[in-house]
Amino acid sequence: MLDIGSLRDRFQQRYSAYPSIIVRAPGRVNLIGEHTDYNDGFVFPVAIDRATCIAARSRTDQTVQVVSSDLNEEDAFSIDHIERSSRPWHNYVRGVVLALRVAGHPLAGADLLIASDVPRGSGLSSSAALEVAVGYTFQLLNHLNIPGKELALLAQSAENNFVGVQCGIMDQLIAVLGRADHALLIDCRDLSYHTIPLPPSVAVMVCDSHIPRTLAASAYNQRRQECGTAVQLLQQWYPDIRALRDVNEDQLTAHEDALPEPVRSRARHVVRENRRALQGAEALKRGDVAAFGQLMNESHASLRDDYQVSLPDIDLLVETAQHLAGCYGSRLTGAGFGGCTVSLVERDAVEPFSRDLLHTYRAATGRTATIYVCRASDGVGRIVDNAGPQE
Ligand code: GLA
Repeated sequence: MLDIGSLRDRFQQRYSAYPSIIVRAPGRVNLIGEHTDYNDGFVFPVAIDRATCIAARSRTDQTVQVVSSDLNEEDAFSIDHIERSSRPWHNYVRGVVLALRVAGHPLAGADLLIASDVPRGSGLSSSAALEVAVGYTFQLLNHLNIPGKELALLAQSAENNFVGVQCGIMDQLIAVLGRADHALLIDCRDLSYHTIPLPPSVAVMVCDSHIPRTLAASAYNQRRQECGTAVQLLQQWYPDIRALRDVNEDQLTAHEDALPEPVRSRARHVVRENRRALQGAEALKRGDVAAFGQLMNESHASLRDDYQVSLPDIDLLVETAQHLAGCYGSRLTGAGFGGCTVSLVERDAVEPFSRDLLHTYRAATGRTATIYVCRASDGVGRIVDNAGPQE
């Protein structure tokens, strides 16, 4: 947990005034339904108890002053003239402010101080947490009425159009809508969702491989294109389909020979993964964690073989976890090419599981992984109102 008192004091030291609000937006881990969101499909993420916090106060002019407490860096820009910066973190803030402006929301300048305990670049959506935190901060400071789903779409548009990553909507949506102790089954076409409680006897364990995700952005955009190609080709037989979400397994099998590789394998992953996400949510609803775990394992095999977004060291983490006592299932989570795995583990087995997984990974790769036992948390919110000194 971030220390809110220290955040408030750092704000005061930098701006010689206390913040009027402190906002928190969580990172996420996706339990199943990977690379389905941009195919209008189903995802099943949880918001985690690691978050980006922003302490903030309005200004009387149009300047936005930003301190990144973690990086010990600053940025400043005018709301009336927002340009891209060469520092990536600047663009998450600038992009969201611009997206709010483009959507017609009147904004005043602000002083911000940002701190986060979502590990950066690990595939736990530190960027979506930052975008959503920035959007919500400006929403509160300017008394704007922005429904949660619209806030998520604005944050996504900042990432697509300003940062330049063609991500889907999952990360921003769960950062807004997350619910404590629940996972959300989200339909990424109409953005409707169901909350499903996580069984208390099971821990959501995230393992950060610490493999740098260098290839991720270009490979991600390429996968998106391949899915688009699959849809175009399949429209010869199914003219009404708009996305791979509209194709079922029988329809795909009937025509998959007409799809060239790798398009055929990509489509197979997405079509089956949509089915797995729906089945997984149903299994968890019935409390059948074993069935859910089995689907997680199948999801990983499909991400490895058909979608080809895993790496040998990630496969090692997943396969090791799958064989450890108390583990129901394990898979790569997020975009892939490094990053994190997620496993569902019996609470009683958490300690030996962590020890054995870390040991095997280090012995085989020389790398030290980090394990987070995550608690599903609420989505974006205000954690402090009028954040002046405590009495
Ligand atoms: C990244 C993207 C999401 C989603 C996942 C893969 O996290 O930001 O939109 O596509 O990859 O499931």
